Amino acid sequence: MTVTLIDHPLIQHKLTLMRQKDTSTAKFRQLLGEISMLLAYEVTRDMPTEKVEIETPLSKMDAPMLSGKKLTLISIMRAGQGILDGMLELMPSARVGHIGLYRDPRTHIPVEYYFKVPVDVAERDMLVVDPMLATGNSAVAAVYRLKETRPHSIKFVCLLAAPEGIEHFHSEHPDVPIFTAAIDKKLDEHGYILPGLGDAGDRMFGTK
Ligand code: URA
Repeated sequence: MTVTLIDHPLIQHKLTLMRQKDTSTAKFRQLLGEISMLLAYEVTRDMPTEKVEIETPLSKMDAPMLSGKKLTLISIMRAGQGILDGMLELMPSARVGHIGLYRDPRTHIPVEYYFKVPVDVAERDMLVVDPMLATGNSAVAAVYRLKETRPHSIKFVCLLAAPEGIEHFHSEHPDVPIFTAAIDKKLDEHGYILPGLGDAGDRMFGTK
């Protein structure tokens, strides 16, 4: 099991701005996009490259380029969209899938309401994105569903994680590494991350 804390000073600074309750919707979205690019930079560090022959204005050279199939980015709706948009800025050719889950109010079991992923995910590495790893319930359910498509590999990327969510996720998916910009203290009684940043979806879309 691995949890990688990506705590570059730029990320820490931007995350602190995002946490502040008076940060506007526009600023929150902008900061999430910027942090997502920085997360993507670290998470894709092990992408394979191959040498190709090119010509500079002065000479020929063998220069590295990404090799293999493009990544698949999977957004867990709806808050995953913020990370997805930022990562697509950096990797515009990535393939994209979406998964939507809601929590049954009676059983509390996540129920799938939307699922669409590229047909050839089996040949691609997959990054599953959701800003908040809180209880871990939806991330765990999403990754079980995505494993049915047999992607080449899966990484889970979030902005904030609670220790409870990390433990839950890893007990179910010890083979899927987690990348996060911060690990906060704990969950409150409603499943929100403390100190956290509130409801990421509401703050991103201005729905509250
Ligand atoms: N989802 C959020 O948006 N915020 C939390 O703190 C926990 C889950």
